[in-house]
Amino acid sequence: MDLYVSSEQSSTTLQDATQGAADEAMGPTGRPLTEFPEPPVLTSHGPARIIAMVNQKGGVGKTTSTINLGAALAEAGRKVLLVDFDPQGALSAGLGTNPHELDVTVYNVLMDRKVDIRDAIQETHVENIDLLPANIDLSAAEVQLVNEVAREQVLERALRRVSDDYDVILIDCQPSLGLLTVNALTAAHGVIIPLICEFFALRAVALLVETIEKVQDRLNPGLQVDGVLATMYDARTLHSREVIGRLVEAFGDKVFETVIKRTIKFADATVAAEPITSYAGNHAGAESYRRLAKELIARGGAP
Ligand SMILES: Nc1ncnc2c1ncn2[C@@H]1O[C@H](COP(=O)(O)OP(=O)(O)OP(=O)(O)O)[C@@H](O)[C@H]1O
Ligand SMILES: [Mg+2]
Repeated sequence: MDLYVSSEQSSTTLQDATQGAADEAMGPTGRPLTEFPEPPVLTSHGPARIIAMVNQKGGVGKTTSTINLGAALAEAGRKVLLVDFDPQGALSAGLGTNPHELDVTVYNVLMDRKVDIRDAIQETHVENIDLLPANIDLSAAEVQLVNEVAREQVLERALRRVSDDYDVILIDCQPSLGLLTVNALTAAHGVIIPLICEFFALRAVALLVETIEKVQDRLNPGLQVDGVLATMYDARTLHSREVIGRLVEAFGDKVFETVIKRTIKFADATVAAEPITSYAGNHAGAESYRRLAKELIARGGAP
């Protein structure tokens, strides 16, 4: 897999509005745009399909995608648990929780078998979304888990207890490939790789794929790559389109047809501690995460 592209080959500044218009017809991934069916109505719930949102690069849209894909799935009637697996607690904050005021978080669930995961899970103000919050305490877990028996399976064991209560569990990983992320990959059925449309971001993917393959090999043979999600896409730049071209070369149909455009509305929604689907429900950003939810369901990545 040749993902590395030298920066000389990139041309960030080139504007090409004509090609931008062509994208609308064909879709940014160069495939004709599919009309994904409306998600079927679920008559019963669980067991959950667990998906880890992983990229060891920071700031690529993991947390934004966890909140908004989660919200779109919840809107479609899925019962969703969002797991904050980053000591920064950005997912928790983005859902209106002040993680630093919490006594019981995912950290306590991991470290103390006597702590019931249900005591750490909170309802959120968004219908059908519950949250397993995290705060800075989680930063100690990486070191403390090292001496644990079956240290890679600790999260899996905890989530198993509530899996029947949900249709989808999304795990928002921290930007690292350490033991916590390995725990997420071990607990998961699938992995979504959010990837910012910039060339430097492609370099990180080879190492990520290697880690996923190791986990498949040694810990979780059923783990699937559900898809690569291109984020912060700017149709006006050749740069963005070239990055997607490279992604499609490397990952083929694994690249989601749905691409998330760059818009300030996501940051605005974060400040309001709301998913974009409720903060600006008619905005293109909300529509794109709804489309992603439909695409994921159509691919069998969620019920
Ligand atoms: N499509 C988008 N358009 C514009 N800004 C975006 C978009 N998606 C995310 N952002 C913004 O980019 C920043 C990083 O996004 P986010 O926090 O989701 O990334 P992350 O991968 O979770 O980062 P970290 O690795 O630090 O956890 C945030 O300020 C967010 O509001
Ligand atoms: Mg994040």
